[in-house]
Amino acid sequence: MCGIVGAVAQRPVSEILLEGLHRLEYRGYDSAGIAVINAEKKIERVRAVGRVAALAEKLNEAPVVGFVGISHTRWATHGEPAERNAHPHLSQQRVAVVHNGIIENHQLLRENLQQKGYQFTSDTDTEVVVHLIDSYLEQSLSLVDAVRKTVAQLEGAYALGVISTEEPDTLIAVRQGSPLVVGLGLGETFIGSDVQAMLRVTRQFVYLENGDFCVLTCEQRCIYDKDFQLVERPVKESTVGSFSSDLGQYSHYMHKEIFEQPIAIQATLEGRLEAHKVKPCIRGEGVMETLAEVESVQIVACGTSYHAGLIAAYWMEELTNIPCRVEVASEYRYRRCAPHKNMLFVTLSQSGETADTLAALEKVKQEKSILASLSICNVDESSLVRESDFSLLTAAGPEIGVASTKAFTTQLVVLQLLIALLLQAKGEAESMVTQIVEDLKKLPIIIESILEKDSQIKQMAEQFIDKNNALFLGRGDQYPVAMEGALKLKEISYIHAEAYPAGELKHGPLALVDGEMPIIAVAPNTHLIEKLKSNLEEVRARGGVLYLFADQAAEIQADEQVHIINMPNIPDLIAPIVYTVPLQLLSYYTAVFKGTDVDKPRNLAKSVTVE
Ligand code: G6P
Repeated sequence: MCGIVGAVAQRPVSEILLEGLHRLEYRGYDSAGIAVINAEKKIERVRAVGRVAALAEKLNEAPVVGFVGISHTRWATHGEPAERNAHPHLSQQRVAVVHNGIIENHQLLRENLQQKGYQFTSDTDTEVVVHLIDSYLEQSLSLVDAVRKTVAQLEGAYALGVISTEEPDTLIAVRQGSPLVVGLGLGETFIGSDVQAMLRVTRQFVYLENGDFCVLTCEQRCIYDKDFQLVERPVKESTVGSFSSDLGQYSHYMHKEIFEQPIAIQATLEGRLEAHKVKPCIRGEGVMETLAEVESVQIVACGTSYHAGLIAAYWMEELTNIPCRVEVASEYRYRRCAPHKNMLFVTLSQSGETADTLAALEKVKQEKSILASLSICNVDESSLVRESDFSLLTAAGPEIGVASTKAFTTQLVVLQLLIALLLQAKGEAESMVTQIVEDLKKLPIIIESILEKDSQIKQMAEQFIDKNNALFLGRGDQYPVAMEGALKLKEISYIHAEAYPAGELKHGPLALVDGEMPIIAVAPNTHLIEKLKSNLEEVRARGGVLYLFADQAAEIQADEQVHIINMPNIPDLIAPIVYTVPLQLLSYYTAVFKGTDVDKPRNLAKSVTVE
């Protein structure tokens, strides 16, 4: 999703901006651009469709030099991916703007500006912002006042970077809803959609709050709050590791990240387990006292994180007897929800910046309908972490592939830690906590053993290349694993896939079964295995072809209609985490065989910062 990088420095900024854009590539985008104010105090702009590398090539041929600049990676919302729609947008060669988010009232603003004679050169919602600023400069307002007057008229979510020839040494940044961070250097200041964009140049950051308006020069960094009062926001030193873009032996980040799962899980568990209990690893004051009061849990998330929530709900109700509901954030945020007593509101997010998840949290905070909020997140210092009462971090390390893998399995790990801590806080079931601790300790080694099946799964994937549809089946806590498997396949290989709880087969999907559509099932040897086996027989009897990840102890026979990857015997509690891994590999190899852009699938973004 759109990424912003800006800089005001005492040296040329193009290189810094370009490096920042490279670091934001993981978010997904379709075009990129840069604008600087040059020595003659003129705006110079270069834009390119496609990769940041294409922009870099253009800049190589015709460099732009300036000490103040803004840049952008665009993920199309209004207007197709095209150079004329790429940011920065200009007005009268005197203002340039980059924008992340959506201006909801752009149509009305556009009509007003057109009546004033402004010509629009793009289909974007952003272009109204730049012309609006210019229209106020035309009335002799200062740049700060022109931007203030403009944002007062904007509805929606936005992060903006603005430069102008009127004040060529100033960079203005505004945050309302979409993420934006200020980076502090020595005599130079940066802005970025996340800290990764700026880690090459600084580790000191100011996290902006909604409504913040920044006036940045080399000497001064003035931040005004939503009431335009000058404020001091805390400066934080980032502990985020500067990630290496080295793929090593791997061809894709997704493959690398699948293989990093044992280490990521180990890192997530590091220092958190004792022999019979989990150490209080949730951040926030009075957390154990609060957990002791919890009587219901509501989990809210999007995408893959939502699937982690669905699995956790099975565990939560089974192990703690606490009612647990799960909902996608884009639904939850807009409906009236009946309050539940002493509710712990858990948001799950890899990035901590997903717009719908943040909005759902905002909603319950405003309604004051919850006992406390807890964010489970892979990014410390993210908006979600900062807005929540408590946080429980995963330590997956940066995930670059758009399709989430290690972030998902580490989320499941910390969800088990949360369950153990809830049990401990309530002084219940020590034996259950001991079981959780013992099973989690075994997890990295078990996943290593699954990764050894890489080439076997690759062979299986060859049979999916020419398929158009696939059906994933699971029962109990393996049903959301099947959902996650289907999501992975459709995200990166563009094969339509859906998941069903196997018991629902005969209520519809059985009508689709033929020799063409592969049916993938996850079959650990749990109390539901005999039920699942009956469901699989129903498929076989109708000529369906099965691809199974099955515990050997389940004694399912392979034949020309039944292809099996044998899975080890593993504790029930960690089975959803383990069975996720071969499904990731199956999707990965199918996509590789189909030749899709595995790490940056079409139309998708890693961090969805607009609604
Ligand atoms: C996007 C990503 C998914 C991710 C989802 C939720 O759709 O492509 O991989 O699961 O957003 O993101 P979050 O950062 O909130 O987990």
